[in-house]
Amino acid sequence: MRPHLHHTHADRAPVELESAFTVDSSRVTFGAGSLGEVGDRVASHLPDPDRAQGGRVALFTDARLRATEWYDDTLTSLRRRNLEVVVFDEVLVEPTDVSVEAAVAFARETCADAFVSLGGGSVMDTAKLANLLATHPGDLLDYVNAPLGGGRPVPGALKPHVACPTTSGTGSEVTGIAIFDLLSAHAKTGVSSARLRPTEAVVDPRTTASLPAAVVASSGLDVLCHAIESLTARPFTSRAASSPATARPASQGANPWSDLGARQAIELIGRYLRRAVADAHDDEARTQLMWAATLAGIAFGNAGVHVPHAMAYAVAGRLHDIGGDYRPVGYPQGAPLVPHGFAVAVSAPAAFRALAATAPFRHLEAARLLGGDTAGVAPGEAGDVLAETMAGLMHDVGAPNGIGGVGYTLADVPDLVKGAAPQRRLLDNAPSQVHEAELDAIFRDALRCW
Ligand SMILES: NC(=O)c1ccc[n+]([C@@H]2O[C@H](COP(=O)([O-])OP(=O)(O)OC[C@H]3O[C@@H](n4cnc5c(N)ncnc54)[C@H](O)[C@@H]3O)[C@@H](O)[C@H]2O)c1
Ligand SMILES: [Zn+2]
Repeated sequence: MRPHLHHTHADRAPVELESAFTVDSSRVTFGAGSLGEVGDRVASHLPDPDRAQGGRVALFTDARLRATEWYDDTLTSLRRRNLEVVVFDEVLVEPTDVSVEAAVAFARETCADAFVSLGGGSVMDTAKLANLLATHPGDLLDYVNAPLGGGRPVPGALKPHVACPTTSGTGSEVTGIAIFDLLSAHAKTGVSSARLRPTEAVVDPRTTASLPAAVVASSGLDVLCHAIESLTARPFTSRAASSPATARPASQGANPWSDLGARQAIELIGRYLRRAVADAHDDEARTQLMWAATLAGIAFGNAGVHVPHAMAYAVAGRLHDIGGDYRPVGYPQGAPLVPHGFAVAVSAPAAFRALAATAPFRHLEAARLLGGDTAGVAPGEAGDVLAETMAGLMHDVGAPNGIGGVGYTLADVPDLVKGAAPQRRLLDNAPSQVHEAELDAIFRDALRCW
């Protein structure tokens, strides 16, 4: 393919546009019982996999998961390989800089040869950051994305990390992203680097049998947004070419590879999310959702998400400022919180409605894959149809009704805009230009979804 040249202004030098894309993922093992492989998989990444005392493994989990049979399975598998296992089970649901610092201190003290994470995005992201700061010098904020942090590149490889997701789910097991709440800034932020991507993902869909309905609903809507945002992101060919070419960002825009996973994930969510939320014993539905989560993770890990995720950082991060008291059943009740999936979903229908004009056929396709009736719908109505189809699903799975459903009012919109506007890495991946005026209009439209 020859590079395209794009003239932004008659008086400016032409910008060379991207002509290739790169596909990255962790090695993925998917299937019932695969947690039994964790020990062998960890050992295979250690310098001498066959020695009698196989090395020290830091196992990250949270208090709830530690009491499950999934934890027992993982521990048994590691011990079978004579690995010394040191456990950190104090991961905070929706981690903060303070909870991550505790994990980092543990990891630095432990001097582990490898990391294993068993849990949802909160656990996997915490393990990624602990691995980073136990392997390389520096403080958490040095590596956090600018402008909140120093944006320091991760200097080299991390220790082997086998990530075992137990929610369906963030896709964190296949991405180089780790997110946390920076308490002093009242905002979510994170570290993003290909080096943070786990070495292997072991995805055992049996784990989802113990998930509370609200966690299935919230994490399933997160999957849906990963998939729709990947499908509707600006095309990779519209981005300025990277220099050097190999420095392509993970948020490279929609490409033929991410489209594959995104399309399949949207269809699976449309077919199975209601069933998986309604019945914890519906193994077929819960397994298919886990697969959708992995697929959508691979998709957005190679395309990037955009506006709904940028807005979610403000929706989740500013709850304390408004004295919000949203505490969904099924999540720890200690403190109010908007779980990540709900935080993204509440603004998503409004965002898709606003953005569809630039890529109407992709928005219409997403609506159809999700189960919406798109027969005879004109391209100009694509955004409305996708917004209504998604809002119907949110209603049926017990999601909050827009940002109003978690406690925000019209008076909070300017503050929410201020929280989302600095997320340029995400906003610049949208199909059209999104700045404060557009965010203001979308937040107003997102006060309720139905
Ligand atoms: N790194 C990424 O690429 C990425 C992508 C999306 C979201 N995130 C982040 O991930 C976090 C959210 O993660 P999540 O949605 O996976 O949920 P979570 O890890 O916060 O877990 C939610 C709740 O479900 C419980 N739980 C998890 N698995 C269970 C199981 N199998 N059985 C019973 N209970 C179980 C947990 O103990 C917790 O109480 C947020 O901090 C979000 O910002 C990261
Ligand atoms: Zn997400």
